[in-house]
Amino acid sequence: HAAVAPPPPPMISAADALSQDELKRIAAHRAVEQVESGMVLGLGTGSTAAHALDRIGDLLRGGALWDVVGIPTSEWAAARAAAAGIPLTNLNVHPVVDLSIDGADEVDPFLNLVKGRGGSLLREKMVEGASRRFVVIVDESKLVPRLGGSGLAIPVEVIPFGSALTLRRLHSLFDGVPGFNLKLRTATTNAKASAFDEDDPELDPFVTDNKNYIVDLFFENGIIGDLNSISDEILRITGVVEHGMFLGLATSVIVARKDGVVMMDN
Ligand code: 5RP
Repeated sequence: HAAVAPPPPPMISAADALSQDELKRIAAHRAVEQVESGMVLGLGTGSTAAHALDRIGDLLRGGALWDVVGIPTSEWAAARAAAAGIPLTNLNVHPVVDLSIDGADEVDPFLNLVKGRGGSLLREKMVEGASRRFVVIVDESKLVPRLGGSGLAIPVEVIPFGSALTLRRLHSLFDGVPGFNLKLRTATTNAKASAFDEDDPELDPFVTDNKNYIVDLFFENGIIGDLNSISDEILRITGVVEHGMFLGLATSVIVARKDGVVMMDN
């Protein structure tokens, strides 16, 4: 690797950083207004969902909500919800969820999402797909004209067995798409992903809650084409467990912007 100077730190002042978290909190609190006593909730994962979990815990503690149970979408969410005092259950006991609240990495104009940059896409999709209502909470930075258009990853969860082969098959699927690239997500660095050898302990792949790996797909210009067909093609590869495109799953998206809150409804 050529020695390249690291990019300069982003020009974000402490005030801006705070205000983005504040926007996440505003969106989360707005969503929690939809929570009613007696509900089975899907509990999201990430820095935005954290505000929702904490708020639900506060309302339970204060007596404004009762008889609520939550199904966490990750081990992280389970720990955070338990700390907030939310009683936990699971999809086997409650296969129908009244309301899920979760963040997203990207939201397109049709309310399709990219999720899973935190690695929790599989449980998120199971819980949110079992929900009567799925409310997405984002700050305005998550809005994109096209999924993958921010130049960030569309994650695919794959089983470790034969993952180098699965990675090659994913590569072939998008062969010829200009600006396409893919990498195995590692716990430390993606640098050696193209030379991935599952027996090389140095590579230290990122491992999901389900003990799987993540392959990140990158599309320089966003993912172009019929998303449902592309989804089907990805899922048809043996070894792929699930991907992070959430198509037609969101009931509504609450977008917190600097100039106010906007609701997008399906
Ligand atoms: C984790 C997710 C998160 O919902 C997504 O990454 C958004 O996280 P944050 O609210 O921290 O931006 O899909 O798998």
